[in-house]
Amino acid sequence: MHPWIAQRTTTFDSSGIRKVFDLAAKLKDPVNLSIGQPDFDVPQPIQDAAIQAIRDGKNAYSPTQGIAPLRDAINDRVQQQFGHDDRDVFISSGTSGGLVLSMLAMIDPGDEVIFMDPYFVMYPALIRLCGGVPVPVDSYPDFRLHVDRIEAAITDKTKMILVNSPANPTGVTATEQELRDVALLAKEKNIALLSDEIYSQFMYDAPFYSPATDNDQTIVIDGFSKSHAMTGWRVGYVHGPSEIIATMLKIQQYSFVCAPQPAQWAALSALDVPLTGHIDDYRHKRDLVMQGLSEKYEIEKPGGAFYAFPKAPGSSGEAFVHRAIEAGLLIIPGNIFSGRDSHFRISFAASDETLHRGIEILNRLAS
Ligand SMILES: Cc1ncc(COP(=O)(O)O)c(C=O)c1O
Repeated sequence: MHPWIAQRTTTFDSSGIRKVFDLAAKLKDPVNLSIGQPDFDVPQPIQDAAIQAIRDGKNAYSPTQGIAPLRDAINDRVQQQFGHDDRDVFISSGTSGGLVLSMLAMIDPGDEVIFMDPYFVMYPALIRLCGGVPVPVDSYPDFRLHVDRIEAAITDKTKMILVNSPANPTGVTATEQELRDVALLAKEKNIALLSDEIYSQFMYDAPFYSPATDNDQTIVIDGFSKSHAMTGWRVGYVHGPSEIIATMLKIQQYSFVCAPQPAQWAALSALDVPLTGHIDDYRHKRDLVMQGLSEKYEIEKPGGAFYAFPKAPGSSGEAFVHRAIEAGLLIIPGNIFSGRDSHFRISFAASDETLHRGIEILNRLAS
């Protein structure tokens, strides 16, 4: 290792996903079901708002907490929804920015953070970066939010419980009751509850429910990357108790500085762009995947997001993904998101034609 590299960077690695993309790079025209972003483009009015902002010279730093109209608009919605006495909002550099600042603001070395396994890849890496201890809680085989298992994992070092519903990589959505139980458990034990709600718009069978409803200390992170296909524009937001938000802002001031200003104006216009057409379309894609794969695969029905997490035939998800890639299908092995190597992730944020081709290859590989 190069002598200048800090020790903390050695506590996690990104080699798993790189291996998959190295393999994929050799494919000519893969059927790509690996992508974690919508297959539609940024809606036209949002594109126009960004261009207008740039032309209007809104290109400088914004206030650390974000432009006032966007922050106010989100704040109004948040206050209306929760009505908490002490809840503040700021604009972050994507949901990832909100996650980084949450960890830096709340995790001390040795603090334990509980989250469900499978998990979004960033969680254990960010926890380790802050010197914290990731405590993944197995959620197989149904990938539900198992409150009893979470409770059993709590120790006197537990600082935070991190929930993500709808979830990446499983697409599973927690029920209102499960979220309420976790919210009340965190409240009772005085443990920080961080809710990653980036897929909140992608709910197919039930309305979205936030655990902040039942726990006024919950820190919520959300953003525009997935809902409006703005992954490259880096706009997210965080709301939570004002002292915690102020601490995150102190760090944002000395790190991200602010979310890109033109993108914030675009996000303001995004608040008025209806998503129903896209959500209906993605529900249809979810159904298409379930109908196509249920016969040959063990697969939990995704209630949200745009992922499914089937069990791989054979004993290794990774080995199966290698076979799929050889057959021209790009999917992600489950062990990137999990301590187990038994499943694989498909993203159904793809055209129906791509989905049909992918389903056909998967069914062939399972026979
Ligand atoms: C669960 C989850 N949280 C956060 C993010 C990061 O999103 P953003 O583009 O807003 O940083 C992602 C992106 O894939 C995600 O799946």
